[in-house]
Amino acid sequence: MANFAITGAQWGDEGKGKIVDVVSPQFDVVIRFQGGPNAGHSVVFGGERFALHVLPSGIFQKHTLNIIGNGVVVDPASLVKEIEGVTSRGIAITPANLKISERAHIILPYHRIIDKFRDIGENGPVIGTTGRGIGPTYEWKASRRGIRFCDVVDPARFEKKLSQEWAFIKNNFSHIAELDRLSCEQIMEEVTAPLKRLVPHVADTITILAEARARGSRLLFEGAQAVLLDIDFGTYPYVTSSNSSALGIHAGAGVPLNTVDQVIGIFKAYTSRVGSGPFPTELNDSLGEAIRAAGHEFGTTTGRPRRCGWLDLVALKYTHLLSQYSYLAITKLDVLDEFDTIKVATGYTTEGGTTQSFPASCDILESLQPEYREFPGWKTSLANIRTYEELPKQARDYLEFIEDYMQCPIGIVSVGPDRNQTIIRPGRFPNA
Ligand code: GDP
Ligand code: IMO
Ligand code: MG
Repeated sequence: MANFAITGAQWGDEGKGKIVDVVSPQFDVVIRFQGGPNAGHSVVFGGERFALHVLPSGIFQKHTLNIIGNGVVVDPASLVKEIEGVTSRGIAITPANLKISERAHIILPYHRIIDKFRDIGENGPVIGTTGRGIGPTYEWKASRRGIRFCDVVDPARFEKKLSQEWAFIKNNFSHIAELDRLSCEQIMEEVTAPLKRLVPHVADTITILAEARARGSRLLFEGAQAVLLDIDFGTYPYVTSSNSSALGIHAGAGVPLNTVDQVIGIFKAYTSRVGSGPFPTELNDSLGEAIRAAGHEFGTTTGRPRRCGWLDLVALKYTHLLSQYSYLAITKLDVLDEFDTIKVATGYTTEGGTTQSFPASCDILESLQPEYREFPGWKTSLANIRTYEELPKQARDYLEFIEDYMQCPIGIVSVGPDRNQTIIRPGRFPNA
């Protein structure tokens, strides 16, 4: 049986949590492989809404093992709060159904402080980060200073590592007033109890995944963020600090290269972005506001308003080059219900002429003009539609144009936030 990956194909918030939840009954293991509490994945069912940050979205399935892989960065207090929030609503989370890689890095209070301090833009670009300490924690990992879960299993060893690290912080970051007010004792006080709470979940996830594969268990890799926020392939420097495309899976989960059989690329029927950075199809007008209002486009993690604009097929096709999607999943098609005209970018006009490739340079991305193809809207509610055939012709024409441009089938169409508001297309998606 095939192992799948679900990754965002735009700038995040495509509905990864929803789609992972929808398909997770078909899988035995759901694995997060990168990112951390910068992610906010919403899952809606039975009239309830859950916002997950680090917990894999397979957590609602009784028989699913959920793994927080080595490539994820974990803030102990925030993960404990997340676990408590979910368990208080009747969902069981135990060391049997949630494992945290002993190699995953820990976000410490100084990472959060440095993240916020840097993002004010005095000495560099304002990225508009989530302020969760993600960038500095990955930076510490790359500079070989990070503290991992295997270091905290023994409290004495953890305290020694932390006090060494604290001396380094004091010596190098004394210009940050908020750090100056912090002490090593305060950090210990913040993290000791949450770490103790998490230790029973800490495991050798490499062996667990190898054994699962040997048994023939089906694995589902859940991406956070998206290809256009990937540190290597996104709109650098306006990106996150991990490989958030499918290319990050093997290193971030600790699985061999032949593990992933099929990649699903998720995209919204339009585009949104939170934080700074180029966004060629952004609508800075009443239409953009209308999309934001209809799509409730406010961040799951920070509550910030998301920037909105039309679907950008040039950008989407670029993500397909890197991911070779087997299927696409389109979400939030219902958000376009009321629009008279729907546009999609199919090319860019630059100083050098027209192009269908996605430039690496943010300067070029900021200066180009999208070329649009227009479609008539369907002007009717899609919220209760459950089969592809019932969709209005205008909506099907829109989807079929996208499939044709992308040369990839749309296997899933989402018409509302709820688990049930999903069209899985027989013949276009496995096991439907
Ligand atoms: P993720 O980060 O990719 O998991 O996406 P988020 O959960 O941050 O943002 C997606 C938002 O859209 C959430 O509020 C979802 O509940 C909601 N959503 C997902 N799919 C649909 C859909 O098809 N229609 C509508 N109207 N909302 C959706
Ligand atoms: P999910 O998984 C949308 C954005 C931030 C900022 C940039 C860097 O819910 O799709 P960071 O805190 O990671 O250093 O911020 O990346 N960003 C996201 N945008 N969805 C996300 O996650 C994001 N995670 C980070 O807004 O522009
Ligand atoms: Mg999100």
